[in-house]
Amino acid sequence: MGCKSVKLGMIGLGPRAETLLATLRGLPPEECQVTAVCDINPARVTFVLDLFARNGLPQPRAYADHKALLADPEVEAVLIPTGWNSHLGIAGDAMAAGKYAGIEVGGASSLEELWHLVRNAEQFGGSCMMLENCCYGRNELLVMNLVRKGLFGEIVHCSCGYEHDIAYELIDKNGLMCERGYQNYSRNGDLYPTHGLGPLAKILNINRGNRFMTISSFASKACGFKAYAEKIDSPCRDFAMGDVITSVIKCANGETITLTHSVSLPRPYSRDGRVQGTKGIWLEDAKGIFIDGISETKTEIDVAGNPYYTHVWDPVSKFYEEYDHPIWQEFRDNPTGGHGGMDTLALRAFLDAVRNRTVPPIDVYDCAAWMAVTALSEASVAAGGMPMPFPDFTNGKWIYPVKEKISPWDLNA
Ligand SMILES: NC(=O)c1ccc[n+]([C@@H]2O[C@H](COP(=O)([O-])OP(=O)(O)OC[C@H]3O[C@@H](n4cnc5c(N)ncnc54)[C@H](O)[C@@H]3O)[C@@H](O)[C@H]2O)c1
Repeated sequence: MGCKSVKLGMIGLGPRAETLLATLRGLPPEECQVTAVCDINPARVTFVLDLFARNGLPQPRAYADHKALLADPEVEAVLIPTGWNSHLGIAGDAMAAGKYAGIEVGGASSLEELWHLVRNAEQFGGSCMMLENCCYGRNELLVMNLVRKGLFGEIVHCSCGYEHDIAYELIDKNGLMCERGYQNYSRNGDLYPTHGLGPLAKILNINRGNRFMTISSFASKACGFKAYAEKIDSPCRDFAMGDVITSVIKCANGETITLTHSVSLPRPYSRDGRVQGTKGIWLEDAKGIFIDGISETKTEIDVAGNPYYTHVWDPVSKFYEEYDHPIWQEFRDNPTGGHGGMDTLALRAFLDAVRNRTVPPIDVYDCAAWMAVTALSEASVAAGGMPMPFPDFTNGKWIYPVKEKISPWDLNA
């Protein structure tokens, strides 16, 4: 496939940028080239330039100020793996400069910064994609395919979460280590909603005939970070973040979604996925799918002579061969790149949109709706679980369903 190589800039050169650069190096060279890099920390710029040299790649131009990089005519699009307090503003600046913006995951600090993002996209005709790699996870796409084919019936309820013990990444003996540590120290709400919620929003057609209406959130007490800090003799103690944040979102079409954010208690990793309809269910932690009429239902007769039914999970893997999403049918024999290949797929979707000047599969309205969860859940927790209304960032355009795919990477049709 001949295609035009996209000239990329990378703003923010922390550990996530390193993974993204490694994944980009694995793509065919005609897909993209990184022509410019930027970080406010000169040590990170030096480190990344050295990385290019060690891999025998041409040196990108280096900048300390993202606005200087955005003025570079040899940059068509930017990836922005900075922290949560800066990526939305930089994405707005990128669109104002006529560049496609690819932001990393994370939640918003305020609704205002999301309106600013949306207004910049509308004013300058720009595009911002969230590089939510979990939207391209094999199981998430498999379930989307099963739902689109009607095998789950009408979807009624979903759940998701980010359950990952990361206390050791946020605190050390001297105190808080990174922006994410300060965020968890100072805030109390669902700070990291999109890994779980993004794929569900696509399955539920959010912003395309459906939308999030309200969110109610509750925080448990906060013990986990404190216990870890005591264990390693760190001075950090009184974290604002409850150990388990539980939220319920109600959608315009009647579905409910429960979200869990839990990053300070020891437990195995989970994104807590569940999609449940009138005919079928996927439950991530059971590693199972049950579809009425396909999966086994045992019928027995109780002592009173009445039948009772036991539904039996099928392993998710049973459905791969026949029902893998078309994106994974192509990819499954050679899933290269970070996070089991999900990073490769999200980046290729972004590059395809840039190359063809199309709306990316996760667009600016998706970014706004998904990231609003953080600001709204924080407000709801503070108000004792009071439901908070989601703004309609589309200004009414959400009522129109999507009918046709606009690219092979599309998640909306
Ligand atoms: N999708 C995923 O699976 C995944 C995995 C890890 C991290 N992330 C996300 O990636 C992002 C970055 O993560 P990280 O661990 O590399 O963070 P980090 O804080 O360690 O690194 C961010 C880098 O951005 C730089 N920076 C900050 N503000 C800047 C600005 N205004 N201009 C230029 N550079 C700036 C910092 O100096 C730093 O080098 C976060 O949003 C995180 O949530 C996503």
